[in-house]
Amino acid sequence: MTEKSVFPKDFLWGSASAAYQVEGAWAEDGKGPSVWDEFVRIPGKTFKATNGDLAVDHYHRYKEDIALMKEQGLKAYRFSVAWTRIFPEGRGKVNRAGLDFYIRLVDELIENGIEPVLTLYHWDLPKALQEEYGGWESRKIIDDFVNYATVLFETFKGKVHYWVSLNEQNVFIQLGYMLAAHPPGVTDEKRMYEANHIANLVNASVINKFHEMKMPGQIGPSFAYTPNYAFDSDPQNVLAAENAEDLMAHLWMDIYAWGEYPIAVMDLLEKRGVAPTIEEGDMALLRSAKPDFMGMNYYQTATNKFNPIDGVGQGKMNTTGKKGSSEESGIPGLYKKVQNPYVDRTNWDWEIDPMGIHIALRRITSRYRLPILITENGLGEYDKITSENEIHDEYRIKYLKDHVAAVGDAIAEGCNVLGYCTWSYTDLLSWLNGYQKRYGFVYVDQDETQEGSLKRYKKDSYYWYQRVIASNGADLD
Ligand code: BG6
Repeated sequence: MTEKSVFPKDFLWGSASAAYQVEGAWAEDGKGPSVWDEFVRIPGKTFKATNGDLAVDHYHRYKEDIALMKEQGLKAYRFSVAWTRIFPEGRGKVNRAGLDFYIRLVDELIENGIEPVLTLYHWDLPKALQEEYGGWESRKIIDDFVNYATVLFETFKGKVHYWVSLNEQNVFIQLGYMLAAHPPGVTDEKRMYEANHIANLVNASVINKFHEMKMPGQIGPSFAYTPNYAFDSDPQNVLAAENAEDLMAHLWMDIYAWGEYPIAVMDLLEKRGVAPTIEEGDMALLRSAKPDFMGMNYYQTATNKFNPIDGVGQGKMNTTGKKGSSEESGIPGLYKKVQNPYVDRTNWDWEIDPMGIHIALRRITSRYRLPILITENGLGEYDKITSENEIHDEYRIKYLKDHVAAVGDAIAEGCNVLGYCTWSYTDLLSWLNGYQKRYGFVYVDQDETQEGSLKRYKKDSYYWYQRVIASNGADLD
């Protein structure tokens, strides 16, 4: 240890996953089908038709995974609960076997000195609720979600102290209702903003319920924050970046923190005839719910230029790992995302910008004055396993090291950061990108054939993070 650490002594050095991406056991112990169980079976939706039926079999191997976490010294593990394990049809009678799995998981974490961070919703909506009333498009989901969450609150009261309400509402709503890349595969702006408003009401209701129940601990949403930059000081490009920040970030975070929609965005949505229906009492509910922290998933920044009214719309995403295959995209009349000449990109065209996480933390701190829990940050890359079963992922170590250092800089400037969870703990299924886009500290022998041995191997980054945790962030080399 060379320098004194800027990280608080109880800093949560963590790592994360999501039920559908790791568990497998998709129809075991009474679990009901989710919208993802169905969506992955639609031809052409996922890379090489990969699905999470087996994933990396965490459902059966959680003890082995937790033993690896303990050996590494991990302080916190963020995971999500599959709603369909607790209520196979979204509501009704609790499926005891499903709940028992999470009780075993949480107990195992606690026994091994690892703080559980529980995400209530990481995109796997019960299919029954999608079919019955259109899922996020009906206000009926508010009661069903709160009822589901209450079972977990009652079960884990005093055991789980960190709760995430919704994971990346901005992603599942936009990809689900605008890009048709996630379930329910819709392309309709009006329906998107309606569903988004209902998701806001769900988020507020569940946070209020948590506080009404006097749960010991903290709850907040996890937002996928991509800070927006202007390409240069041309005022047209600066305004384009403001538009992007308002429409892609403030639209969610202002609601979470203040219960307010950004003025310019609402004006725009009304003019376009796509503003959500706001009923009496909605805004009061949104204003009443106060998250204890802002959860932030950070991967990259976006650089913006002016986009004329006849300019580019949504372009193709890169889900193949062929660098440079994504297309320019934007919203005509508002902004377009362009390449930032100052940063490199991953093979999936995600910009690598460690200073961006520092900027993100500063912006959230200044605007909302909330503590921040970094709930995801990581690098998706191809990894190679050698004949000695070693994985030399020095590119991941570099990525994480630079980001952790930038988090330290933000803390030194006064940002209140509760913890840092990397994405992801083990390798896992990347929703649209199959198994070849790997994120973990632990390599899992699984690939597009979905017939791997599922054996676990520690990557070089595993040992690097072990040293980081042991030195509380003082030793990043
Ligand atoms: C976040 C999600 O969007 O980023 C994760 O919360 C996801 O579930 C991660 O896996 C990385 O995205 P991708 O598309 O590379 O898997």
